Amino acid sequence: MSEFTGNHILSVSQFDRDAIERVFSVAHSMLPYARRQKRTTVLNGAILGNLFFEPSTRTRVSFGTAFNLLGGEVRETTGMDNSALAKGESLFDTARVLSGYSDIIAMRHPAAGSVGEFAEGSRVPVINGGDGANEHPTQALLDLYTIKRELEYNNKGIDGLHIAMIGDLRYGRTVHSLSRLLCLYDNVHFTLISPRELAMPQPIVDAIENAGHRLTITEQLEGNMDADICYQTRIQEERFPSQDEANKYRGKFRLNQAIYTRHFQSKTVIMHPLPRDSRMEANELDNDLNLNPNLAIFRQTDNGVLVRMALFALTLGVENLVSQYERDVIWTTKKSS
Ligand code: CP
Repeated sequence: MSEFTGNHILSVSQFDRDAIERVFSVAHSMLPYARRQKRTTVLNGAILGNLFFEPSTRTRVSFGTAFNLLGGEVRETTGMDNSALAKGESLFDTARVLSGYSDIIAMRHPAAGSVGEFAEGSRVPVINGGDGANEHPTQALLDLYTIKRELEYNNKGIDGLHIAMIGDLRYGRTVHSLSRLLCLYDNVHFTLISPRELAMPQPIVDAIENAGHRLTITEQLEGNMDADICYQTRIQEERFPSQDEANKYRGKFRLNQAIYTRHFQSKTVIMHPLPRDSRMEANELDNDLNLNPNLAIFRQTDNGVLVRMALFALTLGVENLVSQYERDVIWTTKKSS
């Protein structure tokens, strides 16, 4: 039994460095299964309730994929209108019911704190897939895993890292969760770049300062930064009071190869939690970066499967049994890495 077994994963505040390393070690062990070199049926018979009350592509599908890759089954509901929440059912009742159908639940909901409220009614572990502008802990873990892997190529670690976070730092829950995780490390330099109205919430700024990290706050990209990581974000239009309000900021922080060359090092890793807004008026990460080897966005999405497999295995207490239930893969998939 590990400290993960049977427990909810609701916030990055549940993690210390040892717990993160445990997740990363199990995530790494999932590579042969995620790459379809082997398959495992360790979760044969288990059911994931995958409840997404807010739009999602990668978090929802990668939770499902991760569970399937461990041999489990997935039952889903998507969209508020397609659930009895639209008829006034409480989160508690929904949790009571759906936890009777599932062994574990992954959930996304537009209201901050909603996944925690749901977890109080659940009889099985609940994993937060994003609750409003509050937290996105599994994204933060996969981002940190990606940072660790990317920096290894440059012979660097997370301690001493310089990360530039750009864009909507107010409503972007991924930067909230990632910043809190990075606070666990030593001598991190945070450069926070956003319009003042979309600045990082004060409690997170306080957490960075209280942990003794270096903090630079600015409203625009300036000069050539020595950042190891450039973490671009989307204007979270769904959290603004109106589209007009969101439109004021759309396209303010475009990143293309020319801007990247002007402001970053040749080795700076480019990250984004995705989706990137590729509409002309936003163009957050231009397609001309697609061939830049430092663009890590699709390595992030691949790593999301590994990290979510690890979290399922740890939470359901099978992390040491995965290879025992291993089989050969008998089909052929042509995949480039
Ligand atoms: N990064 C992320 O949460 O993406 P989705 O909204 O597609 O799940």
